[in-house]
Amino acid sequence: MTGTRGLGARWRRRRPLRTRLALAASAAVTVVALGVCAAAFAIIRYQLVRQLELNLAQTSIQLTQHTRNWGPTVSDASCKFQAVTCVQIVSADPSKDPRGGYRVLPVGAATRAVAAGRQTPYYSTLTVAGQPVLMYTTHRPGRHEALQVALRSDTVERGVRHAAWALSAVGAIGILLAAALGYWVSRTGLAPVARLTATAERIAATRDPRHRIALPAGPPGREDEVTRLATTFNTMLGALEQSVTAQRRLVADASHELRTPLTALRTNAELLARADRLTDAQRDRAAAALGRQLREVTTLVNDLIELARDEEPQPLVEQVRPAALLEHAVGAARGHWPEIAFTAAVDPAAAEVAVPGVPARLTRLLTNLLDNAAKFSPPGGPVDTELTVAPDALELTVRDHGPGIAAEDLPHVFDRFYRAESARALPGSGLGLAMARQIARAHGADLTAERAPGGGALFRLRMPTPRP
Ligand SMILES: Nc1ncnc2c1ncn2[C@@H]1O[C@H](COP(=O)(O)OP(=O)(O)O)[C@@H](O)[C@H]1O
Ligand SMILES: [Mg+2]
Repeated sequence: MTGTRGLGARWRRRRPLRTRLALAASAAVTVVALGVCAAAFAIIRYQLVRQLELNLAQTSIQLTQHTRNWGPTVSDASCKFQAVTCVQIVSADPSKDPRGGYRVLPVGAATRAVAAGRQTPYYSTLTVAGQPVLMYTTHRPGRHEALQVALRSDTVERGVRHAAWALSAVGAIGILLAAALGYWVSRTGLAPVARLTATAERIAATRDPRHRIALPAGPPGREDEVTRLATTFNTMLGALEQSVTAQRRLVADASHELRTPLTALRTNAELLARADRLTDAQRDRAAAALGRQLREVTTLVNDLIELARDEEPQPLVEQVRPAALLEHAVGAARGHWPEIAFTAAVDPAAAEVAVPGVPARLTRLLTNLLDNAAKFSPPGGPVDTELTVAPDALELTVRDHGPGIAAEDLPHVFDRFYRAESARALPGSGLGLAMARQIARAHGADLTAERAPGGGALFRLRMPTPRP
């Protein structure tokens, strides 16, 4: 058992799929061809023999009818000619046999039994005078005699032989044709698979996800499995390419953005290294600047690490109430920005709605929005937040009364490191909104920015609510 399975496995491992398919298809057709030929042979053989038997039976009936008084004579037929019936009459009583006892057709106990009417007629094959013969032995009605009728059967045997040759030839041609067709079918059928494999191998070798598999043009929705597989493969490659490009860009952006603060850090560090040449005031200023820059770089690096994370870790996902999160985040912002008046309006219908999410990450999103709003607000300027129920979603808005976002900046504020010209004077890295949008996307939510009517910026977070 193990031996055959091992063999099968080895066979599967060694041969390419195309060869295996061709072999399997040809084997199947071969088996069918052989079966059909064998069946045809059996039928032809049966029919030829049956024909001969019927011929004999008919001859015997004619003889019985036309020669009623034909006595028990020695047959003069010798079974030497094809298609000439050889006839012999045998009495049930051996004492009535002709003198000399010579007979062309053999006479046995069965022949006497048929003559006596004790046994039904029968056919037998034998050799007479060196020729194959089929004999029919029957009872002569009203007499104690048997009638033996024989015909040479070599015509039938030759016919059977011819049929065997013809069928073998047809079968052999059929098998050759099956092999050729099997090869052709597997070749054409597997051509798309071969293309797919080649592309996959090229990608593996070059590590370049920009390759795509050429898809056959055809009506959409009617593709075969291989085309669908290729489409899926292309989609996957697209996602891979996007992700690789995004990672590369993040690394490039990060190294570019880190250069400036790191240079400033080094300048201050070098300055402090020669602290003996500085006045106390200079030294304090340099130390304070160093501390501030270190904190900035730390924040930047932490933000970058968070941004580089792609998905929310599944074990941390739980049912969270956005109303509770908003209250918590606004409370924290009030502590952080005491001079800003934050308001939070929660629609009672939205107060108890829960959505799946990671609380810490959603809080981070809200904090980023509230920080921006406070940062860009005029002193004391109110920051209004609102949580409402929209069809199939919860909608959370954060609105301030600051300068708002210029129309030309709107498409870019969610980009990494993007900071509007006017915002450069304020502290920040340009990563806050990028992170906020990334968190929103990971939660299946949509974060957009707009210009609030009457001035100021308005950020809108749409969280789809699960259907009950
Ligand atoms: N509430 C707001 N009002 C005006 N401009 C804003 C507001 N929020 C964000 N922006 C613009 O979007 C840019 C990106 O914001 P963000 O990613 O949080 O970076 P950062 O706050 O570090 O500058 C900001 O630099 C600013 O130009
Ligand atoms: Mg910010």
